[in-house]
Amino acid sequence: MAEIRLKNLAHSYNPAHQTEQDYALKPLDLTWEDGKTYALLGPSGCGKTTMLNIISGLVKPSEGQLLFDGQDVTSAPTSKRNIAQVFQFPVIYNTMSVAQNLAFPLVCRKYSDKDIKFQVDKVADLLDLTEYLPMAAKKLTADQKQLISLGRGLVREDVNAILLDEPLTVIDPQMKFELRRKLREINKRSGITMVLVTHDQNEAMTFADEVVVMQDGRVMQSGTPEILFEQPQNTFVGYFIGSPPMNFLPLKNDNGILTCDHTGFSQKMDKLPSKDQYSLGIRPEYLKITEQQNASFGIAKIIQIDDIGIDGIITLSFEDGPHIKLKTRDHKSLHLNGIVGLSMPPNKSLIYQNNNLISSNI
Ligand SMILES: Nc1ncnc2c1ncn2[C@@H]1O[C@H](COP(=O)(O)OP(=O)(O)O)[C@@H](O)[C@H]1O
Ligand SMILES: [Mg+2]
Repeated sequence: MAEIRLKNLAHSYNPAHQTEQDYALKPLDLTWEDGKTYALLGPSGCGKTTMLNIISGLVKPSEGQLLFDGQDVTSAPTSKRNIAQVFQFPVIYNTMSVAQNLAFPLVCRKYSDKDIKFQVDKVADLLDLTEYLPMAAKKLTADQKQLISLGRGLVREDVNAILLDEPLTVIDPQMKFELRRKLREINKRSGITMVLVTHDQNEAMTFADEVVVMQDGRVMQSGTPEILFEQPQNTFVGYFIGSPPMNFLPLKNDNGILTCDHTGFSQKMDKLPSKDQYSLGIRPEYLKITEQQNASFGIAKIIQIDDIGIDGIITLSFEDGPHIKLKTRDHKSLHLNGIVGLSMPPNKSLIYQNNNLISSNI
């Protein structure tokens, strides 16, 4: 097992790359610690698969280095990297039994029959596949086939990391939850580094110790689910993480004093270039409805109430102003077109300059 480092790494599929647009991955620096769980999260086409394929060796990066425990493996063949990769659709040998499928990587590496049986039994037990071992692999469900793909990665004892590229796509929602739990359990027991690629924020946030949020070939932020929720470094992460997304209200800059129309929000800051754009980021979870006389964040009208089960999403409108969303469990007592007060804990307001966080502890 190893620490994985991407050092000034970039990739373009176009050999004649010239502009930034030609790069599927723009220059980036990332370190993945040994034994942790990571998620690569971002919209389709943002470079997630490219990054995984560079780590496993299927793609050679056009620039920079890939280091395992400090050793340069940028040009090392796939077979020398000891990376197990699980793809979106299960890759199994249909003509073989489940046991033979699991044993395959060990047979290729000429393990003894005794060692193969020991490893296959151990992995089958871990994945609840023991009773299926003698069965033909083609008879299994899509979920179980994906477990076999995963099992083939786990049977080897020399695996540096398991990379999973949207492996839950073919799996039904209940089983997804179960498989995610199992992956975490395996990580805790075996200490194998795991990287899960997904475009589903819920999947990423519930699986990973750290989530790497990507957009358009760039790493927008990497951090724990809590950091991404509390301190999005840019408006993209604020918008992409959280449901509903973070609210952004425009701020006016009057000689270093930032104000937000309709809300009474005002903040003095040092050195604010007047040509830049400023906005206030507020999580719907932290905005509260109050009596009008106790409003510390303006007065607004309720224009929509969406009941989403335990929580309600309330959309409010400031007079002649922007809309804002709030999440609450007290939505049953609210009425459409009601005029209400709003309040915000001061330390939960985030200020963005040209879409980048500049202040989070007001
Ligand atoms: N083999 C390839 N040849 C050329 N362009 C590619 C190839 N694979 C991916 N791309 C392009 O690189 C970008 C990133 O793709 P990819 O890494 O597959 O994104 P994701 O996995 O996040 O959906 C996309 O613009 C995609 O069209
Ligand atoms: Mg992909």
